[in-house]
Amino acid sequence: MSNKTNKSLDDIKVMNDDDMVEVHSELNREKHPPTKGFLIAPLVFVFMFGCLIFVCSIQLAHSTNGFQVHPPKEVVELTDEEKEILRLERKVDSGKKIFAVRCASCHQANGLGIATQYPPLAGSEWVSADPDLIIKVILKGLKGEILVNGEKYGTSAAVNMAAVPINDREIANVSTYVRQAWGNDSSEVSEDQVARVREESSSQQEQWIGSALQSLYLTNTSD
Ligand code: HEC
Repeated sequence: MSNKTNKSLDDIKVMNDDDMVEVHSELNREKHPPTKGFLIAPLVFVFMFGCLIFVCSIQLAHSTNGFQVHPPKEVVELTDEEKEILRLERKVDSGKKIFAVRCASCHQANGLGIATQYPPLAGSEWVSADPDLIIKVILKGLKGEILVNGEKYGTSAAVNMAAVPINDREIANVSTYVRQAWGNDSSEVSEDQVARVREESSSQQEQWIGSALQSLYLTNTSD
C-alpha cells in the first residue's frame, strides 16, 4: 500500500502509519533495556561504600588524635643548664665546620699540623693561653719564628690565618672549637672578646711578630 501524498517520489520507499508506529516502538524498546534485577546492584555498592567510609572515619578518629595528622609536639622545657650545654654544643659544631673549611688545609683535621711546616694546634700553648692570643693570630696572622710544643715553626714569610675576611662570630666559634678539640681543654671564646681585640688592633696592618706575641703571652715557653 503506497501513501498518496508521496506519489511524486516514486523511487523512495515510504512507510504507512502502522509501519511507523511499529518501527518506533521497536526503537523505544531498544533504548530502555529491561531494568528488572539490575537497579539493586549499584544501590548495594553505594551502601557498602558508605559503610566503609563510616568505619574508616571512626578508625581515623581513634588513631590520629582527633583527626590531627601531626599532633602537637610535647613542649620540652629545658633547664638553664641544658640550654647552656646545647648552646655550647652548637657553637663548637659551627666552629668545627669553620675549621674544616678555613684552617684544616694547613693545621690538618686532627690538629697536628705538618712537621716543620704547619704548627700543631693540639696541645699548643698558643691555643690554651689567654684567648686574646688566638684571636689576635686569627685576626692578623703571624710572621717570624715561633715555638710550639717545643718545636720551631714559621719563617720570615707572613702567614694569614684567614685568607678572606672572617667575622667576630666565626672567630669566636672556631677558637672555641680549637680550644676544646683534640684533648685541648680551655675556656670558650665569646664574640665580645673578639670584637674588643678587633677594635684594639684595628690600626694594625701587618701580621703580628711571632716572638713578640710569644714573650707577651707565653713567657714560660719563650727561649
Ligand atoms: C695557609 C696555611 C694556614 C692556614 C689556612 C691557617 N694557618 Fe694557622 N698557622 C700557619 C703557620 C705556618 C703558622 C706559624 C706561623 C709563623 O709563626 O710564622 C700558624 C700558626 C697558628 C697558630 C699559633 C701556633 C700554634 O700552632 O698554636 C694558631 C693558634 C693558628 N695558626 C690557628 C689557625 C686557625 C684557627 C686557622 C683557621 C682560621 C688557621 N690557623 C689557618 C698556617 C696556617
